[in-house]
Amino acid sequence: MTILDGRATSNTIKEEIAEAVKKLKEEGKKTPHLAAILVGTDGASMTYVNAKVKACEKVGFNSTLIDLPEDSTEEQLLHEISDLNKDNDIDGFIVQLPLPKQIDEQKILMAVHPDKDVDGFHPVNVGKMTLELPTFLPATPFGIMQLLERYNVETSGKNVVVIGRSNIVGRPMSILLSQKRSFGNATVTVAHSRTKNLEELCQNADIIVAALGIPEFLTGAMVKEGVTIIDVGITRIKDETKKRGYRLAGDVHFESVSKKASFITPVPGGVGPMTIAMLLKNTLLSCERRSV
Ligand code: GUN
Repeated sequence: MTILDGRATSNTIKEEIAEAVKKLKEEGKKTPHLAAILVGTDGASMTYVNAKVKACEKVGFNSTLIDLPEDSTEEQLLHEISDLNKDNDIDGFIVQLPLPKQIDEQKILMAVHPDKDVDGFHPVNVGKMTLELPTFLPATPFGIMQLLERYNVETSGKNVVVIGRSNIVGRPMSILLSQKRSFGNATVTVAHSRTKNLEELCQNADIIVAALGIPEFLTGAMVKEGVTIIDVGITRIKDETKKRGYRLAGDVHFESVSKKASFITPVPGGVGPMTIAMLLKNTLLSCERRSV
């Protein structure tokens, strides 16, 4: 069994990015600049956004964090987005999700200029991804593709089950893995809450991407020997024995599934760190594109 080590792999990618930034600076070119908008004080979102800003510093990017109050209006948020769209120093920016309920998420994502949409969430970029045109791939699926590639996990002709059909992970993952591309060419089934024969599908799967958001849902009894497991789930579970009062659980019951798996991502330290590295990669790409 091989652990798909997202922490180590993301560090390698961040070193590659830092090297590229150093070169840009030496050549007198622009330093990449990522901005993030956070609305409200959700604990997990604050942790993720802070980790993104810290990662920027680590690779030599400039970063800007825009903190807006929980009761912000849609107009206020649209105004900030418009400013970032126009700001020539900003190469890319993200609006951390989820947003408070008074704000229409789709309307917000559509306001981000596609050329600065380093999350790859704008419909134009989703369309380009689907058509295999150059674009920003959404960071989590991009990170998973990188893990498969860097550990040389064969996907061609394999049966893949993606559990979850979210716009951020499940749907794009299913599209990328079925495309005619390296580390694609898989036969993909998208399973979700209405799927009737999930156990049977999983037992026939060579690769399972668990992205449904139910802690420790996938157990050893549901998978076959030699399976590759990508665990996208990350849920805080109350645990008084921990100093911070919670532990992190994936969508996979690691102990039982890892006994049968040939490759598996841990939680934490699997997909999570890859997501941040690929957001940086997209920002570097945007900076390079904008300066030509
Ligand atoms: N919330 C959960 N994942 C993500 C992500 O990749 N980008 C943004 N902007 N928000 C998220």
